[in-house]
Amino acid sequence: MVDLLSLQKKFILDHLHDGDTAVDFTMGNGYDTVFLSQTVGPRGSVTAFDIQPDALLSTERNLRSNGCPDNWRLICASHDRAREFVRGPIKAGMFNLGYLPGSGRKQLTTMRKTTLPAVERALDLLGADSVLLVAVYPGHPEGAAEGEELEKYFSSLSRFRYSIARFRMLNSPESPFFIVCETK
Ligand SMILES: C[S@@+](CC[C@H](N)C(=O)[O-])C[C@H]1O[C@@H](n2cnc3c(N)ncnc32)[C@H](O)[C@@H]1O
Repeated sequence: MVDLLSLQKKFILDHLHDGDTAVDFTMGNGYDTVFLSQTVGPRGSVTAFDIQPDALLSTERNLRSNGCPDNWRLICASHDRAREFVRGPIKAGMFNLGYLPGSGRKQLTTMRKTTLPAVERALDLLGADSVLLVAVYPGHPEGAAEGEELEKYFSSLSRFRYSIARFRMLNSPESPFFIVCETK
């Protein structure tokens, strides 16, 4: 059966290798940060953003308990400020939109107002042969609206610069889906 999470990892691993630079734009509990940190290894670097201090604590715990190399930086700031902290080019960026799982603070979800500028900035940071992955959760109203705006935005980008695809379950429209954007 289709496993969207393994598909996401496959796209990241097509581009991200030992020694590379990556950004987790929505660190949450740090599962993606751990994956990126282990993929780029001790010679690489990963910067992760979240607006909730709890996310940084949880992610640091996760990185340490998984024995990740000392190649990460956790930043408590909104991802639309990424350019203040990260110098490109990066090889991979991940957005896993929505709210912090297990926190009960569903109001602290990603919002169109900052998600869209953050995605634009993330694209500016991408080098050649790189990838940006955006996972969308359309099961709540802001998530659905975020997904629609992102689809509109990504559809408007040049096919000569980017290859952009959407992976969505046809028979479960409220399930999470993702957009993968690869640079040429
Ligand atoms: C679905 S969770 C991410 C899950 C995470 N990638 C993981 O592996 O555990 C979404 C996260 O985005 C964070 N978030 C919301 N608005 C944000 C913003 N403007 N900038 C950065 N992070 C934000 C939330 O606090 C939440 O922790």
